[in-house]
Amino acid sequence: MANKDFANMYCLHTATCGQLRAKDIDSEVTLCGWIWRNRDLGGFCFITLRDRTGITQVVIDPDVLGKEAFEEISHYGREFVLKVTGKVRSRGNKDINPDMPTGEIEVLASEVVLLNESQTPPFDIEDGIDTSDDMKMKWRFLDLRRPEMFKALELRHKFTHAIRNALDKRGFIDVETPILANPTPEGARDYIVPSRVNPGSFYALPQSPQQFKQLLMVAGVERYYQIARCFRDEDLRADRQPEFTQVDVEMSFVHTSEVIDAMEEVILEALNECGANVKGPLIRMDYAEAMERFGCDRPDNRFGMELVDISDLVKDSDFKVFSNTIKDGGVVKAINAKGAGDWSRGDTEKLQKIATDNGAKGLAYMLFRSDGSVTSSIAKFFDDKQMAALKKALDVKDGDLVLFVADKYKIVSAALSALRIHMGNELGLIDKTKHSLLWVVNFPMFCQDEETGKYSAEHHPFTHVLDEDMDKIESAPLECGSYSYDIVMDGYEAGGGSIRIHNPEEQRRVLRVCGLSDEEIDLKFGHLLHALSLGAPPHGGIALGLDRMVMLLAGRDSIRDVIAFPKTTSASDLMTGAPNPVDDKSLDELSIKTTVKE
Ligand code: AMO
Ligand code: AMP
Repeated sequence: MANKDFANMYCLHTATCGQLRAKDIDSEVTLCGWIWRNRDLGGFCFITLRDRTGITQVVIDPDVLGKEAFEEISHYGREFVLKVTGKVRSRGNKDINPDMPTGEIEVLASEVVLLNESQTPPFDIEDGIDTSDDMKMKWRFLDLRRPEMFKALELRHKFTHAIRNALDKRGFIDVETPILANPTPEGARDYIVPSRVNPGSFYALPQSPQQFKQLLMVAGVERYYQIARCFRDEDLRADRQPEFTQVDVEMSFVHTSEVIDAMEEVILEALNECGANVKGPLIRMDYAEAMERFGCDRPDNRFGMELVDISDLVKDSDFKVFSNTIKDGGVVKAINAKGAGDWSRGDTEKLQKIATDNGAKGLAYMLFRSDGSVTSSIAKFFDDKQMAALKKALDVKDGDLVLFVADKYKIVSAALSALRIHMGNELGLIDKTKHSLLWVVNFPMFCQDEETGKYSAEHHPFTHVLDEDMDKIESAPLECGSYSYDIVMDGYEAGGGSIRIHNPEEQRRVLRVCGLSDEEIDLKFGHLLHALSLGAPPHGGIALGLDRMVMLLAGRDSIRDVIAFPKTTSASDLMTGAPNPVDDKSLDELSIKTTVKE
């Protein structure tokens, strides 16, 4: 933790604005900070002076400072920068604000130096302000002056520091890898940088240090880590930024269990140092089980409402949407949102959009009213016996709402998983003060694009295929499992990794299945294949999404809140204006022509 009492250490002040308490009464101090409020009350001025540690009340008395100085200071506005020297005195018992840790004292100023003036800021520098995100991004340096924003930066520092310590203790060494690099396939588009001295050629900013960390294993580094900046040109969301930070880790001579064991210790140690109170051992859940029970590979297991497969119960029902879906090879699953059975029909209908946004054709429901009646357009299709079986399978009581989706497995999973999270939030079932972590393991090796039929790696193409599936790589790619794992925190994918391929032939086979010709493989990954053929040790690793983990620790909804200078959803920086056009001369030097017109 950064030293909070850094005042007196190479600076103009002898105390910070958050530091003084009753024990400091009668001491002489110098504070430096920004004016939060300046109020003239009956012949005295009361200034609340703020720095990153808190606020202290400063009293300006004309009898101490003189009428002229008093007059001038009383006109100092918000965010003026002051150096104040004076005596700490008790505020008595009156007006003590329990939320203000320095509330017992105030400083009677004997000298006030104006270090800088400030124009009127575009918004108030305080927590809980109702200012648009765009304004806050444009004036980010002011936004960061707000206490809650500084706290987020400080928490990020603390977590990063704890992670570094935990890794250092276990023999990991911090190695930097290039930013001007070659493409790394992590599933997004690359940000590319033109090379002036190699006209027509481009670097790619790394989507992750994946290839470099594997090469470090071949180099014998054995335990590597890096707090690494990654760049991905992809659609942005609350938990995705175009540049973000990973805690990137790689280890040699390990299996899955060694990587998971080591990282579980590191993660829990660092989280607990930041006050998270999480205990191991963490659940290790198979990917297939996570999909079956929660409909997604990043389950929030802080509440139940699990998906129930009712295909067998409804395959012969008169509701054709259900029976036909099953005939066509699909499934019918449902969730029981306990306690929502008295929702209005209208409110329940609104849930349809969540289902259709996730690819479903519709959403069927049964409202089991507290009075024992049932409101549903599909109940009529089920006889008493079928109804009783449904109620048993879903543990239905009066007062419950059951939501059904019928479709292909993937769509049913996506729709019900989104509805589960929505209902969990609506019904207040998620204790946001608690954190829950688990491992999801054994992801499939490949996935297939439904439109193009093309295969790609579910994690990335450097992931080792399960030994027992090695002969299915070409013949049945979708049946191949992999040595892979994700760490899930509070329903977010907080990190992911795998044991890597360390055999050049396996690497070539996997890349071929992903659609690369041998020429392309040699061109793009020749360096890696060479390395694998020159004594590569078995190795594996993981990357944690640092921004996401700090966001969850800080109880925020967006990673923007824990990044000092984030970008908007259109990947721009409202403060500096980046990205900007460049002039023709610079483009000429780079041998680049753009087709964009002013
Ligand atoms: P992966 O692509 O799963 O794995 O990324 C690891 C973790 O990084 C975080 N993350 C992001 N955070 C913010 N904004 C983004 N755009 C973004 N994209 C990903 C997630 C994710 O779990 N090289 C592999 C790791 C490995 O195999 O060791 C990799 O990058 O929390
Ligand atoms: P319909 O008979 O088409 O009016 O549908 C009756 C109810 O079933 C409506 O609430 C639809 O939204 C819902 N529904 C339609 N298709 C599906 C589906 N694939 N899965 C679940 N419910 C559906």
